[in-house]
Amino acid sequence: MSEKIKIAVLVSGGGTNLQALIDAQNSGVIKSGYIALVISNNPDAYALQRAEKAGIKSKVITKKEYAELFEEKIMKVLKEEKIDLIVLAGFMCILSENFTKTFDKRIINVHPSLIPSFCGEGYYGLKVHEAALNYGVKVTGATVHFVNEIPDGGEIILQKAVDIKDGDTPQTLQKRVMEEAEWKILPRACEIVSENILNQK
Ligand code: GAR
Repeated sequence: MSEKIKIAVLVSGGGTNLQALIDAQNSGVIKSGYIALVISNNPDAYALQRAEKAGIKSKVITKKEYAELFEEKIMKVLKEEKIDLIVLAGFMCILSENFTKTFDKRIINVHPSLIPSFCGEGYYGLKVHEAALNYGVKVTGATVHFVNEIPDGGEIILQKAVDIKDGDTPQTLQKRVMEEAEWKILPRACEIVSENILNQK
């Protein structure tokens, strides 16, 4: 049995969830795996600076550069690095069935709502919180789930509810859902899945 599994985190933006994973690794919440690689599809993602500061290797792979070979390139890098678990942490691309089947039960994603509400294609980032506020739900939250060929449709691993308050805007709600739910359940789910993979080795 290896000591720790290798985790890759895929990002597109600010990377606060990546930061939560780095902090969880440092505090020992994540102990069955370590973040070996960060991949961003956006060269300007602040997440890349977080990776650099933490001494984690990163790669930028853009659709602009790779076009139809975008996913192929990501898969090649993940295989070369012998990655065991892929964490989508604010990664704003939908992965094809070919990709998700190649890494079956090896990809997890954090989504900023209580799935099956406000999820699937077109629901990402602030749009999710706008939709929750427009609908008028009183409780929202976050979900960590396995990734399969259906956007946000894979098996749920963890969820956490967050109350909506009077006067919430998409921005205030996004911040509270991150603080109260995403940054807690993503590291925990990451450890649960890492431990399972480690035990299978
Ligand atoms: C997070 O709220 C994440 O749940 C969401 O984007 C934000 C990224 O923030 N992801 C999606 O909407 C995916 N469908 P971060 O870059 O600061 O982690």
